[in-house]
Amino acid sequence: MFVKIERNYDAMSLKAAQIVAEVVRAKPNAVLGLATGSTPVGMYQALIRIAKDEGLDFSQVTTFNLDEYEGLSAGHPQSYHAFMWENLFEGLGLREEQTNLLDGMAKDLAAECSEFEEKIRDAGGIDIQVLGIGGDGHIAFNEPGSSLAGRTTVVALHPQTIADNARFFDNEKEVPRRALSMGIGTILDARSCLILAGGKGKAKPWAKMIEGPMCSQVPASALQMHPWVIAISDKAAASKLSNRKYYKHVDRERADQPVLPPWIEQPQLDPRRQAFAKV
Ligand code: GLP
Repeated sequence: MFVKIERNYDAMSLKAAQIVAEVVRAKPNAVLGLATGSTPVGMYQALIRIAKDEGLDFSQVTTFNLDEYEGLSAGHPQSYHAFMWENLFEGLGLREEQTNLLDGMAKDLAAECSEFEEKIRDAGGIDIQVLGIGGDGHIAFNEPGSSLAGRTTVVALHPQTIADNARFFDNEKEVPRRALSMGIGTILDARSCLILAGGKGKAKPWAKMIEGPMCSQVPASALQMHPWVIAISDKAAASKLSNRKYYKHVDRERADQPVLPPWIEQPQLDPRRQAFAKV
C-alpha cells in the first residue's frame, strides 16, 4: 500500500484528482470505479477543474459505481445515481451510456448484481477504483463480516452505517436498510485502487486498514492483499498510524516513480486472477 499523508482535505482531494486524471491521460478509454459519500466530493470538484483547465477528454471513459441503496429510484435525491450526476457526471459532461450504477429498484436484485459483474468484465475490468472508508471500516457497503472474496450482492446495512448516513436524509428512519454493493473480491480485481479518508472520525478505521491484521471485521483491510493501492488521507485521519514517519519517507523516495501500475495498459487483468476468467 502506498500511504500518502496530505496536510488537509483540499490537498488530499487535489492529489487524488491528479491521479485519476493521469489514468485518463494514459488511457482515454479508462474504466473508472467511483465512490459516493462526502469524502470524494472535493476530489470530484478538482477533477472537473482539471478536465476544464487542461481540456482533458472524458468522452471515452466508462464508469462503474460501488453501490446503491435498495428501493431508491435514480431520481431520488439521496440515491447514489443523483449524487453522481450532481457531483461529477454533469460537470464532466458524461453521457448516460458511459455510466453504470446498480439499480436499487430492479425486480430481480440477484440478476442485477450478476449482470453488473458481467458488465465490468465486458468493459475489460476497472483501471482505478476510487474508495472511501466507513466509520466501521467498510468499503462500498461491505460491512464487518463480509467475505473478503465476495462478489456484487445485496447487503444489510450495519446500524452504524445507517446512523452515519442519516445526515443525508430527513431522519434515520428514512435510510434504506439494505443496499446493492460491489463485493470485496470485485474491488480487488481492479488494476489499481485509490482510497481516501479525511477527518479525525476516520483515524481508527484508517489505522486498522493499514496497520491492523487483515480480517473480515475490518473489510477495508482486504486492500492489504491488492498489489497497487494508493491510500491518501489528511493529517487528522492519519493521526493513529504508528508508522507515519516511515510512510512519509517512502513517499519521498517514490517521488520519481510512476503513479500507475505497469499493468494498467494490459488489455485484460492478470490471467492468474481467475475472477475475470469467463467460464
Ligand atoms: C457510504 C458509502 C461508502 C463510503 C462511506 C463513507 O457508506 N457506501 O462507499 O465510503 O459512505 O462516507 P463518507 O465519505 O461520507 O464518510
